[in-house]
This record gives sequence, structure tokens and C-alpha cells, in this order.
Amino acid sequence: MVVIAIFPGTFVRRTLWLAAVVALLPMAGCKRAPRAVPENPATVAARAAAMLPSDLRLAALYRASCQTCHAHPDSGAPPVGYHYAWDPRWAQGMPTLLSHVIGGYNGMPAGGQCFTCTQDDYQTLIRFMAGQSATAN
Ligand code: HEC
Repeated sequence: MVVIAIFPGTFVRRTLWLAAVVALLPMAGCKRAPRAVPENPATVAARAAAMLPSDLRLAALYRASCQTCHAHPDSGAPPVGYHYAWDPRWAQGMPTLLSHVIGGYNGMPAGGQCFTCTQDDYQTLIRFMAGQSATAN
């Protein structure tokens, strides 16, 4: 008798809880932006090695500076076009990213070893590397 009295209540509570979770899951999915996921290191390295800014002048600047580290994941630099590495950095906002590039940031040398880059060049290169530019690839 005791078992019968307790079991239905537990069962109903569990069922309601499950139903609530199942109903809420799709809503949670809709609200969030798609989240970048980790990728195979070989895929990341191959993509980073193949990417260049579409603008020829910027591509030359990039090849002579940023590419040395940002196309080589082993360097510790976030690889070009790898959203999983870049999205949290991009979330800091352009002013912070720009100041880290100009002033240096841990293993990131001040100016990124680009001695002729203007502030606009840096911003375009940052957008390109973070995968936030539609054209610069
Ligand atoms: C000598 C290697 C090297 C070169 C050259 C280099 N970087 Fe970096 N960069 C790094 C490393 C390492 C990091 C990661 C620093 C950290 O988060 O600790 C980094 C991080 C960054 C970040 C993210 C900073 C943040 O706030 O998260 C930006 C933006 C960046 N680099 C832009 C550039 C640009 C633009 C160039 C070329 C003009 C460049 N880098 C050249 C090594 C380099």
C-alpha cells in the first residue's frame, strides 16, 4: 500500500519535470547564437595556411608579419579563421583588440611586427583573422 501511494506521485513529478525540460530545450537553442566548436588541429592549420586578405597590399603586410604566428597554431597565437579561438576574443570588442595589437599582449608583440600598418590596416586585419570579414579572405 505504501509503495503504491508513493510511486504514482514520484512518477507524475518525474514525468512533469521531463516534459518541462523537453519543452524548454528548443527555446534555449533558439535564443543562443551558434557556438563555435573545437576543430581538428590539422583542419585548423590547413585553413590558416590557406587564408590571405583579398586586398593585395594588406595581404603583403599580413604575410610579412601576422602570418608568421597566426598561421601556425603551435605558436600559441589564435589561428586565422578559427572561430573557436577567436569568438571569445572578438567579444572583447574592437577597441580592446586594437589596443592589444598596438601595445602588445602576452606573446603578441606590440604592433604585430608590422612596421608600416596603419590603425585601419590593423582593424581590417583583425576582422580578417577573426573570421568577421565577408570579403578579406
Ligand atoms: C610573433 C608572433 C605574432 C605575430 C607576428 C603576430 N601575433 Fe597576434 N598574437 C600572437 C599571440 C601568441 C597571441 C595570443 C596572446 C594571448 O592571448 O596570450 C596573439 C593574439 C592576437 C590578437 C588577440 C588579442 C586579444 O585581445 O585576444 C590579435 C587581435 C592579434 N594577435 C592580431 C595580430 C595582428 C593584426 C598581427 C599582424 C599585424 C599579429 N597579431 C602578429 C602572436 C603574434
